[in-house]
Amino acid sequence: MEIFLDTANVKEIRQGAKLGVVSGVTTNPSLLSKEGNADYEAVVKEICTIIPGPVSAEVVVEGAEAMIEQARKIAAWAPNVVIKIPATAEGLEVTSALAREKIKVNFTLCFSLNQALLGALAGAAFVSPFVGRLDDAGHDGMELVEDIVDVFDYYQLPTKVIAASIRHPEHCLAAAKAGAHIATVPYKVLMQMTKHPLTDVGVARFLSDWQGISRGKGK
Ligand code: E4P
Repeated sequence: MEIFLDTANVKEIRQGAKLGVVSGVTTNPSLLSKEGNADYEAVVKEICTIIPGPVSAEVVVEGAEAMIEQARKIAAWAPNVVIKIPATAEGLEVTSALAREKIKVNFTLCFSLNQALLGALAGAAFVSPFVGRLDDAGHDGMELVEDIVDVFDYYQLPTKVIAASIRHPEHCLAAAKAGAHIATVPYKVLMQMTKHPLTDVGVARFLSDWQGISRGKGK
């Protein structure tokens, strides 16, 4: 399973990139507004230079024609931009039009297997089931990821499944076990994934034992 960063914070993306485990980024209008940077194009272009893999940027207009027009503009910002299109009937129309033009789509805000299947049939490169938001609504978000992976496997659909709306490291484990191709995670969760208290205790003990030997040699 690949790891994408789910953020529009350039500093976090630079930090994450140093770890060598981040192969893409997903942004959305809420994440961008959190950063308070009004220059959408500049931020997305900068992210695309830091991470050479897929960088998802969402359309922020309504209506199929307007979405297609904006998607074409965003797609021209960098070769690795992927356009996020919401999982609606209009979104399907937009996705199939963009797929015909070889513009990659991340079919986002996906909350059902039917939506994911339709997104794949329309030619989306990625579908994003929102695990955390489903959990919040009293459903089992990861069960949806499992179902989508199974159905895509069964019908050999090439669309990749991004486990999105990830809230904690346990979600990442479950996404990997469910066979998600990608988990898109907030920076905080990525850092939590690196941690284990026994590793910290072990490192501290090795260092102090080593310092004991060094001190002994010095005597
Ligand atoms: C994914 O592409 C979305 O940006 C994101 O995962 C949404 O997460 P949230 O439910 O925490 O806002």
